[in-house]
Amino acid sequence: MPVAPTLVHGGSGPDFLEQYFPGAPKPWLDLSTGINPWAYPHDGVPEAAWTTLPAPSLMRDCRESAASYFGVPPDNLAILPGSQAAISLAPRLFSPRRVAVLTPTYGEHAQCCRHAGHDVAPVTWDRIGDADEDILVVTNPNNPDGRTWSRAELTSIIARRGARWTVIDEAFADVEPALSVGALPHAIVLRSFGKFFGLAGVRLGFAIAPLEIVGRLEQMIGPWAVSGPALAIGARAYRDTAWQQATRAKLTASTRRLRNLLERHGLTRVGGCDLFSLYEHRHADRLFHELCESGIYVRRFADNPHWLRFGLPPDDDALARLERVVASL
Ligand SMILES: Cc1ncc(COP(=O)(O)O)c(C=O)c1O
Repeated sequence: MPVAPTLVHGGSGPDFLEQYFPGAPKPWLDLSTGINPWAYPHDGVPEAAWTTLPAPSLMRDCRESAASYFGVPPDNLAILPGSQAAISLAPRLFSPRRVAVLTPTYGEHAQCCRHAGHDVAPVTWDRIGDADEDILVVTNPNNPDGRTWSRAELTSIIARRGARWTVIDEAFADVEPALSVGALPHAIVLRSFGKFFGLAGVRLGFAIAPLEIVGRLEQMIGPWAVSGPALAIGARAYRDTAWQQATRAKLTASTRRLRNLLERHGLTRVGGCDLFSLYEHRHADRLFHELCESGIYVRRFADNPHWLRFGLPPDDDALARLERVVASL
């Protein structure tokens, strides 16, 4: 049997794995991402958002709505096509220098910093307060282990770093909004629309940063980089506090069910947040293959073969499908 590559970006997984597991039952159940399976209702986008270039008023509306949700001044917000755009662009704001990237974390951070010519060193979770590099990159809550720093702890680390920059990736902070550090000098905070609102395909994200950084990021991305429908949906979603509260409760309950199932069948939890759970298993590789053969795709890790990361199953059928494989191990 050909070995499926260890690392596949979430979302492209099932398409890609199809060639290795052609007999897997369809449709694939994609648990490889940390995307909310119950997307924000995205109908009713005004016709003009599709047919005209994004109007300044639409950008302003989305900026104000998102800024109020993040608790930051609207001018400190760069609107981007996903937080990935900030991960790719922010390293290019600086001439080559020393960068410490929290490790393990989302692999794009180190990769994009290297592509921008920086000298990248890993830093473990407990040592980020000691990092003396010119730029420090932290993900909070972290992907894949869900570890968190409190707002107070992180704010004080950022303050101690003085004029050195800190990038805080808060792509998963919507499930724990109290963690967010907001707008701070010498900090670039990344926010993702796609994960908590379940609309990763819309491609909407933000960087919260000092004014000159916001200006430079928006200049780099160019005009109309974010689509009218993305702006319209984002503006509505960030104001919809009833949906946000109900969704947080649903994600917490669903995470509990997923964890009960996995732990009943001998998997050991390493960590996670309410959008994904990281588990350890002696036979993680075998479990990964058996899940693939049953049409279920979870995330595995090149540097830790005992880890598997599970996203939330969307319904009872998906949970039962997962349980059948896990129970047979
Ligand atoms: C920690 C982290 N940050 C940022 C991103 C990029 O997300 P998006 O561009 O959809 O906002 C991802 C995607 O998986 C991620 O895991």
